[in-house]
Amino acid sequence: MSTNIATMAYIAAIVLFILSLGGLSNPETSRRGNLYGIIGMIIAVLATVLGPRVTAAGFPWIIGSLAVGGTIGLYAARKVRMTQMPELVAIMHSLVGLAACLVGYASYIDTSIAFTGAEKTIHEVEIYLGILIGAVTFSGSVIAFGKLSGKIGGKPLLLPARHWLNLAGLIAVIWFGARFLGAHDIDAGMMPLIAMTVIALLFGIHMVMAIGGADMPVVVSMLNSYSGWAAAATGFMLSNDLLIVTGALVGSSGAILSYIMCQAMNRNFISVIAGGFGTGEGAAPAAAGTEPAGEVTPISAVETAELLRDSKSVIIVPGYGMAVAQAQHTVNEITKLLRERGVNVRFGIHPVAGRMPGHMNVLLAEAKVPYDIVFEMDELNEDFPDTDVSMVIGANDIVNPAAEDDPTSPIAGMPVLQVWKAKTSIVMKRSMASGYAGVDNPLFYKENNRMLFGDAKKMLDEVLVALKS
Ligand code: TAP
Repeated sequence: MSTNIATMAYIAAIVLFILSLGGLSNPETSRRGNLYGIIGMIIAVLATVLGPRVTAAGFPWIIGSLAVGGTIGLYAARKVRMTQMPELVAIMHSLVGLAACLVGYASYIDTSIAFTGAEKTIHEVEIYLGILIGAVTFSGSVIAFGKLSGKIGGKPLLLPARHWLNLAGLIAVIWFGARFLGAHDIDAGMMPLIAMTVIALLFGIHMVMAIGGADMPVVVSMLNSYSGWAAAATGFMLSNDLLIVTGALVGSSGAILSYIMCQAMNRNFISVIAGGFGTGEGAAPAAAGTEPAGEVTPISAVETAELLRDSKSVIIVPGYGMAVAQAQHTVNEITKLLRERGVNVRFGIHPVAGRMPGHMNVLLAEAKVPYDIVFEMDELNEDFPDTDVSMVIGANDIVNPAAEDDPTSPIAGMPVLQVWKAKTSIVMKRSMASGYAGVDNPLFYKENNRMLFGDAKKMLDEVLVALKS
């Protein structure tokens, strides 16, 4: 493939990636967006592999790597459960970071292109920054994977003087950077490069260890952004324009998503990165499963069906438990039935409901819930006082009034869906256990709240049977 054709293919891939991002921003166009992304990636891989910079001797390596990587990717994608997606995403980010580090070291020891003068300095700066971002992304993502999968505890590790430690690390990285750029040969440059890599790896671990459980969604999207910048840095090292643009697209969209999530959780982005939010520095969170004080009013599936049948308007708030129970199809059946009977049913989606951005939208779309009755939190929160029943399905933190009423709560300030303002709220969950943030929920003890205990799918099946009868 000639250079011109490869460049044209790269431009086509870039346009498809941009269209893909545009499509993914809306549930109605997301399938198309996904398709654009797949076609763009196929074009990008083919244009690179068949492009002018790959010789025939490289083909066996490339085909072998594609087979191994493709098989692992296919296996992981088929095996992973929807609730494990954030872990998978985190571990994938770590691979991007690792690739940036390996490409950085390979570029440094590769003597086939002899850079001189300013070009040499620019190339070395690219290598240094690429490995720096790659190493932080790699170790940070591995820790994020550990935390999300429960292999590492969610509590933030708050070392004394941690900000000073970070500052000392930054100064050391700058100092080693100066030594690296001043080195006369590869041997002399290797020591500061390795020292910086170790510091960057430790920084990545420290950064994510210091972040509390409730802020992990922001961290995953922030690491997504880092992985984009690591890919862009790799693009600079390899002089590959497509990688630079794609990395910048991922880097900037990840940064925007992190910002939106911070707003949704009323967190200051810098404070999240600095660590310690999420649990810990405020009041101690209740341990999951502790018996909280107060009385709750249980309700049966049949009584729930009666309440729903007598309602004019219902707002359903799904959360992580709906994903665990895979109750979305029954939710859709109930929605259809109620709408046929003239009940105004709508869905309220919190930006961090579930365990990944858009988690609830994906599940509801899969169950074919109409898009036009699915609303974001801000579009619906004012309507709760005019709502007969708010039905919370396996959600907890995102409907916790303590976020508004209790300034000492670890989730204080996080905007929540005000389900308690409806005439009656029904919370569907298996026990009194706390949610992801590990905090108690005063909603359960409110006078107008009812608890429908049990697995969401099982209870909703019973509600459906009662509604039909
Ligand atoms: P959570 O606060 O985690 O609450 C989910 C509730 O579902 C639990 O209290 C659990 O109670 C219940 N549940 C679990 N399995 C169930 C089942 N089979 N049937 C019925 N109920 C079940 O979820 P949420 O309200 O969706 O809030 C999301 C939380 O996750 C936030 O704190 C958010 O910051 C965090 N987070 C979000 C993301 C993103 S990007 N969305 C990523 C990582 C973390 P029982 O055990 O009593 O049933």
